[in-house]
Amino acid sequence: MKRTFIKETVSKIGQEVLISGWVNTRRDHGKIVFFDMRDMTGQLQVVFVPGSLAYDKITDVRPEWVLSVRGNINARPEKMVNKDFPTGTVEMDAIDIEVLNPAKTPPFEVDKDTSKIEEELRLKYRYLDLRSVRMAKNITLRHDVIKFIRQYLYQENFREIETPYLTKSTPEGAREYIVPARLYPGEFYVLPQSPQQFKQLLMVGGIERYFQIARCFRDEDQRGDRQPEFTQLDIEMSFVEQEDILSLVEDMIIKLVEKITPENKILHKPFPRVTYAESMEKYGSDKPDLRQDKNDKNELAFTWIIDAPLFKYSKSEKKLVSSHHPFTMPQKEDIKKLDSKPEEVRAYAYDLVLNGFEVAGGSIRIHKRDIQDKIFDLLGVSAEEKQRRFGHMLEAFDYGAPPHGGIAPGIDRLVAILAGESVIREVMAFPKTGDARDVMMGAPSAVSEQQLKDVHILLAEEAKGKALKRAETQTND
Ligand code: AMO
Repeated sequence: MKRTFIKETVSKIGQEVLISGWVNTRRDHGKIVFFDMRDMTGQLQVVFVPGSLAYDKITDVRPEWVLSVRGNINARPEKMVNKDFPTGTVEMDAIDIEVLNPAKTPPFEVDKDTSKIEEELRLKYRYLDLRSVRMAKNITLRHDVIKFIRQYLYQENFREIETPYLTKSTPEGAREYIVPARLYPGEFYVLPQSPQQFKQLLMVGGIERYFQIARCFRDEDQRGDRQPEFTQLDIEMSFVEQEDILSLVEDMIIKLVEKITPENKILHKPFPRVTYAESMEKYGSDKPDLRQDKNDKNELAFTWIIDAPLFKYSKSEKKLVSSHHPFTMPQKEDIKKLDSKPEEVRAYAYDLVLNGFEVAGGSIRIHKRDIQDKIFDLLGVSAEEKQRRFGHMLEAFDYGAPPHGGIAPGIDRLVAILAGESVIREVMAFPKTGDARDVMMGAPSAVSEQQLKDVHILLAEEAKGKALKRAETQTND
């Protein structure tokens, strides 16, 4: 018999069907036994009565066992309807079952909200946590958001293009993850902090409208809204101005929220635009939270922060550094201040802030070599360093680079807020802990002597000792 998804049983009243899934709960009421069966589409109450073939086979069956159940779908009497479930109008009268796999008792109850369970335990058994209704809902929401974005951008004539993960340093300001190159002793690939340079080079390549659901890697201190690897909706467009990018993203996000999470309410449409200077003066922050009622989980206050300064002064480095990244275009009327008052130069740079979190950042890029050279000079990048780190970009700009710009919304942050979650780990299938460990896979971990030899790496004694110690504590856990 072909399997029926649980969600579809509501339209199968009076029919015999076969469902497959997990036992969510078991309730013994005298001689009658009730299971709530769960699959990816929902839950269904199954009734086992003495005398059926099925009844004799369920004596040992406990929650989280994997079963196929064959039975008749019946309408529930009016007063037995469970309004909490889409399948609450029906139930299954079990005829027979097949145990596909028994299960040990899970370390925490997955039929309840797991948010209060110790997070390290949830992450170690993430595959069990994902079975809980809330987590399954979050992961499905993430899927729906990405699907909507893809369809929206395909319609707007964007090309979806993958860019390399093994690459060279990218200047987004965070520490980078490095990967030893076996064939080139002493040399390393770098995992991209974002596809920034590639997307600009795609514009030089005539692509004009690019997007990618891109994984980015940043070795920085973790917070609730930061992960060492995270996902951006990376966008770049040619022959555009700031306005084109803001209005595209704004239209996409408004439609996305209205279609995918209609329970959420966008407070201000169009999104207010606040200059960086105004925001700092009025709210003391470049990420103002403009909600009216911060206790209302469904209120969404989007704000564009525009006209960010091109540079800021780094006290630790004692020099100017880019506020966004060094490819950001200075505003036309401020170019004359580049030499005299560089800190007053505004950029065509914009962030999208949602409820006090930065959910997107972008800019119009420099496409002319002379301005790019000038910016590197002001940043104190030596001629040698410029050539070594960015020679390929500068060379590309000499071959007819179109005016271009882009933006990158952070998918994890956006989905977390839409889901009403306060940390992005809740909307990622396999996130790392706050201190960048994967406790399920046991990463990071030591590798064999041979693997190190292959990539020409000799560990410092101190590092060896530390790795050994960590390996010991992990086996003791
Ligand atoms: P930026 O560095 O501002 O811009 O990043 C864009 C967006 O990515 C998200 N984000 C993160 N999410 C989770 N964990 C992190 N560690 C993390 N870091 C950033 C945020 C942020 O707004 N290349 C440019 C984009 C561009 O100019 O087009 C860039 O990466 O939501």
